[in-house]
Amino acid sequence: MVSKRLLIVAHAPSENTQDMVGAIVQGAQSTTNGRIEITAQTAFETNSDHVIKAQAIILGTTENLGYMSGGMKDFFDRIYYPCLEKTQGLPYGLVIRAGQDGTGTLRAIDKITTGLRWRAVQKALICRGKWRPNFITQCEELGAATALGLDLGVF
Ligand SMILES: Cc1cc2nc3c(=O)[nH]c(=O)nc-3n(C[C@H](O)[C@H](O)[C@H](O)COP(=O)(O)O)c2cc1C
Repeated sequence: MVSKRLLIVAHAPSENTQDMVGAIVQGAQSTTNGRIEITAQTAFETNSDHVIKAQAIILGTTENLGYMSGGMKDFFDRIYYPCLEKTQGLPYGLVIRAGQDGTGTLRAIDKITTGLRWRAVQKALICRGKWRPNFITQCEELGAATALGLDLGVF
């Protein structure tokens, strides 16, 4: 019986970022072999019920204009208060794809997740600069570690 859910919520507007989401899913599946439910969906289609039902979440966003993407901000705007009392302690991972920087996005998401009292269970991954195939490996590793931690009850 599948009892734990890992939710991957991403704003991935490009082929590279779509591939990163695919790699997170792939990594998560590779270590858990069907024992947990893994769902990947866009930030726009995710609502507070999806988050409340999840036992862990991975967030993925591009950095745009020094901040998280509008899609990810819209997600937080919609889920913040409905989740506030119901998701405290939620384990989360974060992946940022940034052309040059990523720190503005990291700071902003850190502030919001602190408000929500979510728990970072992986060091945030910032895939910065010119595209590198190694980003895919890093996303796979983050997905694998998060899913395995959830599966084994480490969080
Ligand atoms: C409107 C716009 C604003 C952007 N602003 C930033 C920024 O402030 N900092 C940054 O590191 N990258 C910025 N970027 C680059 C994006 O993060 C990058 O295009 C995105 O992560 C997709 O990467 P890809 O080319 O590998 O698909 C911006 C891109 C766009 C389209």
